[in-house]
Amino acid sequence: MNLGVLGAGRMGSAVARAVGETGETVAVCSARPGSGPARGLPAACVAATLDEIWRGCHTVLLAVPFPVAMALVTGPAGRCGDGRTLIDATNPGLCRDRPLPPGISGGELIAEAASAWHVAKAFNTVAADGVPADGPLGVPVSLPVAGAPHAKLDAFALARRLGFEPVDAGDIQASRELESFAVLLARISATSGLHGGIGLSTHRAVPDAVR
Ligand SMILES: NC(=O)c1ccc[n+]([C@@H]2O[C@H](COP(=O)([O-])OP(=O)(O)OC[C@H]3O[C@@H](n4cnc5c(N)ncnc54)[C@H](OP(=O)(O)O)[C@@H]3O)[C@@H](O)[C@H]2O)c1
Repeated sequence: MNLGVLGAGRMGSAVARAVGETGETVAVCSARPGSGPARGLPAACVAATLDEIWRGCHTVLLAVPFPVAMALVTGPAGRCGDGRTLIDATNPGLCRDRPLPPGISGGELIAEAASAWHVAKAFNTVAADGVPADGPLGVPVSLPVAGAPHAKLDAFALARRLGFEPVDAGDIQASRELESFAVLLARISATSGLHGGIGLSTHRAVPDAVR
């Protein structure tokens, strides 16, 4: 199966639903023992076990709280990637758990632990409610992607498929900025009364002649 989604909460369901609605089969797992995938997903979203997703999917999206993702990839799952793609959508700074110390990011820790995977940090700067991207007045919503080159290609493809404009943010160390940026977006969203409906749009802000 092409895409596997770990986490059937707001983010995982939004991505699974959007891909499933195109007719492509998506494997979905809630990651918490005993709970099934979210209700109301299209038929193309198939309930899978953790093991089926880790071993059978070309691309796996981590859409669980950061500590849960970290616990998963620190185990055997982190060593079974065979060079497949792991997309980390987590935001340690926004989780209820203890934030990470300065100078390190969740994306880097995930990449270090999931050493058998190509890891990309992506989808952490977009709101679940904004998946798929359907920007007002046709304004494209940019989706920064950082990480290993091979994984970035897969993350770019998934982002485009969901209507986003992927932008290259560099290597996995850029997860530090992407995770901080997600916190900043949440703060601006709160102070601006946007209720999470906030997104990044990348465009030239200075006329060509000024460059
Ligand atoms: N929501 C957003 O707009 C958004 C945007 C960008 C990034 N993210 C990131 O995406 C990730 C998921 O966020 P979310 O909003 O989708 O969260 P959520 O709605 O709370 O869903 C979390 C998912 O993780 C599972 N889970 C929770 N605790 C678990 C545990 N101890 N063991 C195993 N599985 C567990 C939940 O399982 P159950 O269904 O059994 O509870 C659920 O499927 C987070 O890292 C978040 O920072 C979210």
